[in-house]
Amino acid sequence: ATASGGAGPLSGLRALVTSGPTHEPIDPVRYIANRSSGRQGHAIATALARQGAETTLVSGPSQLPDPPGLKTLHVQTAEEMLAACQTSLPVEIAVCAAAVADWRSAAPAQQKMKKNGAPAALELTANPDILAELSKAGSLRPSLVIGFAAETENVVAQAREKLARKGCDWILANDVAPESGTFGGENNQINLIRAEGVEPWPQMTKVAVAERLCREIAATLGR
Ligand code: CTP
Ligand code: CA
Repeated sequence: ATASGGAGPLSGLRALVTSGPTHEPIDPVRYIANRSSGRQGHAIATALARQGAETTLVSGPSQLPDPPGLKTLHVQTAEEMLAACQTSLPVEIAVCAAAVADWRSAAPAQQKMKKNGAPAALELTANPDILAELSKAGSLRPSLVIGFAAETENVVAQAREKLARKGCDWILANDVAPESGTFGGENNQINLIRAEGVEPWPQMTKVAVAERLCREIAATLGR
């Protein structure tokens, strides 16, 4: 048994959620990272499990405790996150809330880099896109693949473009412009983007976003 999978509108369904940042090593003591807390992804995994889905959370490094009642897989890098997601298939529901590093060091140093001489240039290479990979997983593709898009401008247009480019089913477009007051805070300002259209949600807490998303998922899957 991987998770509670108890009673509730999503019982009998399996869910996979990515959360948190990734850490991409430069050398044994340094890494590339970002400021993601994991708060939104952890809240979504918690809500899915509470609604009865057998839930696996794949989390990058986060200060948050593992949510109770579900299985958490801890990873550091984007490549590890992708591998953990692939071993967690098949699922019916996948939600990619992680802030995956777009790039990693092309050749992490085996020993700590020293500062003698000129500053070293860091050669980067692209990381796998986990949301895009899950969206094109063939016979293992989840019925519902959901991603996020954090944008500071042209929120809906850029999120629509991401939906098309990645081949996922829904995007929760998150307005993180400074004047929205959402960045780093408790709240999120979401537009739910689907092929059928755009649904603006009022500003609400990340926990409320998770609960509303679960209701949308249940309704769409006929629960
Ligand atoms: N994502 C992912 N793997 C990556 C990059 C992004 O799974 N390597 C997912 C995120 O979890 C999110 C969605 O893709 O659900 C959008 O991430 P975002 O960073 O907004 O989009 P990118 O395609 O990386 O484009 P950009 O950063 O240039 O805006
Ligand atoms: Ca990105």
